Amino acid sequence: VFADRTEASRTLALEVAALVRAINDSGRSAVLGLATGRTPLPFYAELIRLHEQGELSFAQVITFNLDEYLGLAGEHPESYRAFMSRELFDHVDIPAENIHIPDGTVSPEDLSAHCAAYEAAIRNAGGIDFQLLGIGRTGHIGFNEPGSPRDSRTRKVELDPITRQDAAPAFGGLDQVPEHAISMGCGTILEARKIALLAWGKAKATIVREALTGPVTDQVSASFLQEHADATFYLDAEAGSEL
Ligand code: F6R
Repeated sequence: VFADRTEASRTLALEVAALVRAINDSGRSAVLGLATGRTPLPFYAELIRLHEQGELSFAQVITFNLDEYLGLAGEHPESYRAFMSRELFDHVDIPAENIHIPDGTVSPEDLSAHCAAYEAAIRNAGGIDFQLLGIGRTGHIGFNEPGSPRDSRTRKVELDPITRQDAAPAFGGLDQVPEHAISMGCGTILEARKIALLAWGKAKATIVREALTGPVTDQVSASFLQEHADATFYLDAEAGSEL
């Protein structure tokens, strides 16, 4: 638990930069799993700062994003592809071909092949070295809403009404929020070698407590992290206030 989100984000950004350098020094690309939403914004700002200071290069970094809204093209400002360009990729030296985000425009017929190809791409890259997560008020990681199995893989998911409500302001109304997404599964996420979950603010305090100290259950996907060998929560004082 940190005093504020800036301090937490700065601490994690330094750790991730050191990890990327160590993996690159060992002669291979670092594979990062990335998240979107409001939570990672100060973390991405810190990564960009480290890049500008010459302390972090993305030239040998491969990324896989957790999820994308189904039905949104990359040009839609609320698509996660647009978000990632705006908040991180446009400001660092990552090669375009190293970026992977599920395609929200995939047709229903091609969807399962697209999800299988996403899983195969993660495997072919050598698996995820570091996975960044936020947490939804439903306890979701990625868009693994309550009921998502522990061994679920990348697939089409239905968004919980609470998740859609939380997204409504950004979309300019609930009716504009997609009903489905493509998301890495709990099983995909849990295979990452190192995981960091970020949470800020009072609104996340109850679900953070449930995830960390409640039973391990598919009703709170983030509770599966209790069984991961190297998963850490980075919280501000408010998000940690019920612990
Ligand atoms: C985003 C994602 C979600 C968010 C979660 C929290 O890629 O997978 O799990 O991390 O919904 O969203 P914010 O950060 O906006 O509160």
